[in-house]
Amino acid sequence: MVNVAILGFGTVGSGVAEVLTTNGGLIDHRVDDLVRLKYIVDVRDFPDSPYKDLFVKDFAVLENDPELDIVVETIGGATIALDFTTRALKAGKSVVTSNKELVATHGYELLQLAREHGCSYLFEASVGGGIPILRPLTSCLAANELEQVTGILNGTTNYILTRMIKAGLTFDQALAEAQANGYAEKDPTADVDGHDACRKICILAALAFGRHVYPDQVPTQGIRGVALEDVAYADSVGCKIKLLGRAIRQPEGKVCAFVAPHLVPGENPLSGVEDVFNAIAVTGNAIGDVMFYGRGAGKLPTASAVVADVIDIAKDLKRDRHNGWEEGAPDLVVSTDGLRSAWYVRVQASVEQARSRCGDIQLLARSGAPAGEAAFLTAPMTEPEIREKLAGLDAGSLFRVLA
Ligand code: HSE
Repeated sequence: MVNVAILGFGTVGSGVAEVLTTNGGLIDHRVDDLVRLKYIVDVRDFPDSPYKDLFVKDFAVLENDPELDIVVETIGGATIALDFTTRALKAGKSVVTSNKELVATHGYELLQLAREHGCSYLFEASVGGGIPILRPLTSCLAANELEQVTGILNGTTNYILTRMIKAGLTFDQALAEAQANGYAEKDPTADVDGHDACRKICILAALAFGRHVYPDQVPTQGIRGVALEDVAYADSVGCKIKLLGRAIRQPEGKVCAFVAPHLVPGENPLSGVEDVFNAIAVTGNAIGDVMFYGRGAGKLPTASAVVADVIDIAKDLKRDRHNGWEEGAPDLVVSTDGLRSAWYVRVQASVEQARSRCGDIQLLARSGAPAGEAAFLTAPMTEPEIREKLAGLDAGSLFRVLA
């Protein structure tokens, strides 16, 4: 018998209970043992839940139960979740989580703790919801030197951008829809301002390049600055605006990582990733380009990845999974200032001004554009270079174009 507890009976936690129950027979068969949900910890009461007899409020019950093997943490945040995860690992219980904030901020120390106590800390669901990405990155692509990871990592913002593009909804209307569908974080600013995508690119960068990348090292810009005008200009040249998290290997073991809206040309498969779907493109020196695609948020897709980790651990409770990375460093992450790309610019200027400032540009058009608005694509250059050229102009939008 393998005993499991769930911490936090919210969207993901209740999804985990549902998958463990609905697919119980096949899970037992795959593990070749009985996998039983023994406890659910939540401060709230759920008197009508089919799992009502499993609820406990005191975490010490789990810590002190020698028969409990795996703790699923779906509380979120990095306060109570950190305390419970630390205590569970110290008690020798393996922990599975979807909590990207905790992994991105404390992953290194929690992985160390798991090793010291002969248990595992797994977090497949923390990036890309239901998409298998972390295990493939470290197992199936293990023969590669990974060069870069580029992803649409936040379902809520991708949903918002898609609804703005396709239905002409305002930002607020589209956000309300995403929240109603259960995609958004408790505080949607983490989605909209890019912090959720930032945490996910930190985890991907740590796994791809082997050292902890902390969120405060990663420049992060969300989608509040994306206007319907930008969507229309992008559309006029077959591009879609996407919030991308990017991590690029640099010389001497350094990493360049950032989150920002980009114009993605139609020939790049990331441009066709819509609604709540996420996609992660990985480049390795042997495989070339590979892309992972699927539902990046939502109750059952996320629970699917959580329960897969539970199954992996349950198959062999004592196996040392070595899925860690080295400690980070203040100088590990280099500035994006050296990264050249073409730029999309929307600015209050005449065409002549735009040309004299930026040289060889591709002018863009949209219906209803007011006089004095210029939008264009530039030749490749660095961010300091384009900012210097635009100095003094009233810049509406400035986004990189994905090569
Ligand atoms: N709020 C997150 C998103 C949930 O929209 O992608 C999944 O991490």
